[in-house]
Amino acid sequence: IPVDGFDLVIFGGTGDLARRKILPGLFRRFCAGQMPEDARIIGAARSEMDDAAFRETVAEAIREFGGAQGADEALAEAFLERVGYEHVDATGETGWESLKGRLRDGVVRAFYFSVAPSLFGALAERLRSFGLADDESRVVVEKPFGKDLETAKALNATLAEHFDETQIYRIDHYLGKETVQNLMAVRFGNMLFEPLWNAQYVDHIQITVAETVSVAGRGSYYDTSGAMRDMVQNHLMQLLCLIAMEPPARFNPDAVRDEKLKVIRALDPVDHHQVVRGQYEADDTQPGYRTHVDDLRSTTESFVALKCHISNWRWAGTPFYLRTGKMLRSRTSEIAVVFKDAPHSIFGPEAGTHRNVLAIRLQPNEGMTLGVTIKEPGPGGMRLVDVPLDMTFAEALGPDAEEVPDAYERLIMDVIRGNQTLFMRGDEVEAAWAWTDPIIAGWKRRGDVPKPYDPGSNGPEDALMLMHRDGRKWREIK
Ligand code: BG6
Repeated sequence: IPVDGFDLVIFGGTGDLARRKILPGLFRRFCAGQMPEDARIIGAARSEMDDAAFRETVAEAIREFGGAQGADEALAEAFLERVGYEHVDATGETGWESLKGRLRDGVVRAFYFSVAPSLFGALAERLRSFGLADDESRVVVEKPFGKDLETAKALNATLAEHFDETQIYRIDHYLGKETVQNLMAVRFGNMLFEPLWNAQYVDHIQITVAETVSVAGRGSYYDTSGAMRDMVQNHLMQLLCLIAMEPPARFNPDAVRDEKLKVIRALDPVDHHQVVRGQYEADDTQPGYRTHVDDLRSTTESFVALKCHISNWRWAGTPFYLRTGKMLRSRTSEIAVVFKDAPHSIFGPEAGTHRNVLAIRLQPNEGMTLGVTIKEPGPGGMRLVDVPLDMTFAEALGPDAEEVPDAYERLIMDVIRGNQTLFMRGDEVEAAWAWTDPIIAGWKRRGDVPKPYDPGSNGPEDALMLMHRDGRKWREIK
């Protein structure tokens, strides 16, 4: 279904995110027929170039990142007709009047801030003072949304001077991932799971976001951030919220975000013995973290594992284990709900112990697996075996199902539709920082040094110990 007509201005339109994600994502929505005739995309940045030169860079981005249709020249041409460029000085006067001249009345106006957070204030102020934005316009802001509670509050305050909260779309692209939304469908669209979704039946929950990429090429940002700020404070905490929240009364922005916020506020402070930091080393073929960030003494973490508790009626007593890192064995992101043992085995000790695990895979092979225990087939008596009820979405929905849209595609379309459900509210972001800040401050205070780990491994040994101590085990990263 096509969305309404729009003018989307991308500040930072020549940057990496625009090139890899935003522009190719818009192209794919165009190919899917979701972009109406009167949709315009205007790149805005510091470089001086004309429409034609910008279209050339967009054409390249589409060829490289636009998926199967990226090679279709006719489609690309048709898309590029909607694309323009304006040279704008975010902190000066240049380009603003001219940009304003390009905007039309009667369509949705959205402004995407794909720039450093230090420019948010200047952009927001100029959008208003030059009369480009009004009370109906939308602004989209990227992470990192600050680097701690104080800076996030300042950013929220700056944006609030010019825009109402209902106009601000804070992106966490994990919320746009197909499986993440499916998590809500599974929890709240079925009778089967929700009655068991609590500390009485769930032994623990594991959330893993393992990556194989290094930080090469973005070391100067990453080294000031680390895995805690880059991944845990946003992506992993959002997953935690969706898995742990109470059922919202409606699937609408504030109902969902209120429930997520309650989860964050119910998180206990984390004891420093329950956190493990790691940093990848060099191996025979490639340099290690410190070379990638060009600081041979860096103590920033490229890996974090931690155990936390949510102190509320539903979850008291059920630990949540979170881990994420770069340069690990494989790219695997999943949430695993590990249920408790059956209270009594009627099959005797030789049947062994068996646990149901619901594993929700974010990537790759988005889908879900429910481990169930059945009788081992054959005449050998009552021996039990665990088998997966496997549902890979691509398989279940068949080859004709539309290609799963990338998270950015979906989220940008939600901006045009005016649906904030999958965007973070200001108070949520602040609450998340309020939880992670003391962990980071503790590292600094104690002069904590991350544990080294080998590239291609599962992270540092201590992360395994975090679970072993509790008689539990991480699921394999494979
Ligand atoms: C970004 C982080 O937000 O998410 C990156 O800054 C990380 O460090 C990326 O690599 C992971 O996203 P995805 O969609 O590839 O899992």
